[in-house]
Amino acid sequence: MAQAKSMWQAAEDAEHQQMKELGEKIVTKSLLFHLADGSLPRTNTPVPGAPRKQVLMGTDPRLPPMPEKPTLMDFFKNRFTIGGDQHLMQSANLAQKNGLPEKMVLGCLLHDFAVNGFIRSDHGYWGAQLLEPYVDEEVSWAIRYHQALRFYPDESVGYGYPELYVKLFGEGYRPEPYIERAYEFAKNHKYYMSARMICVNDLYSFDPNVVVTMEQFEDIIGRHFKQPKEGLGNDNTSSSHMWRTIIRPCNAL
Ligand SMILES: [Fe+2]
Ligand SMILES: [Fe+2]
Repeated sequence: MAQAKSMWQAAEDAEHQQMKELGEKIVTKSLLFHLADGSLPRTNTPVPGAPRKQVLMGTDPRLPPMPEKPTLMDFFKNRFTIGGDQHLMQSANLAQKNGLPEKMVLGCLLHDFAVNGFIRSDHGYWGAQLLEPYVDEEVSWAIRYHQALRFYPDESVGYGYPELYVKLFGEGYRPEPYIERAYEFAKNHKYYMSARMICVNDLYSFDPNVVVTMEQFEDIIGRHFKQPKEGLGNDNTSSSHMWRTIIRPCNAL
């Protein structure tokens, strides 16, 4: 009995570590969030048969509210970095100055959509998958492959290996084999230069005094992003569930 109690206590303790109470509801965390903290939970949640409070489903009151029919702009404003994402906006601003076609300005605006709004690891692939139903195939293709191309110079367009990457990943960092394969595939593809242009305009060092706002891109989004009338997440595309997860990241199920 004592052993059972201590097991229960251990489960409870672990549960309290894993969950954050919110009023009468318990907020569950996806395993991915635990992995991001470098840990594996000791118990799965919810513990079967254990007396417990209700778990959070639906609107998460800790996060900015989202309208019933969210647009791309709503995701930028309510789910991205507070104040908007200068890396994305500055990159799109540069692309515009460099005379890229409008749809590729949109590509630059969205190229790190996954980094800023969803999952960093394999961000090109996640971003492309999220956006595929709503943008021209050239745009999502370019977003997918910019992830690999960022690691490889192309002197024909003046793109060298980013100094930032030396700082971030260390001297002599070699991308994983799947990235090398993606690069080999991409460099012979008809959309290669579009993905490359994302790299060229991928601006990490910008003047902090220059502030670009999303309003600058409102028209381009309107012309090149197929905003569903039901709202992102409420439509029935291959990535609607991903948008819903961004809206409600801590739904228990
Ligand atoms: Fe990127
Ligand atoms: Fe970027």
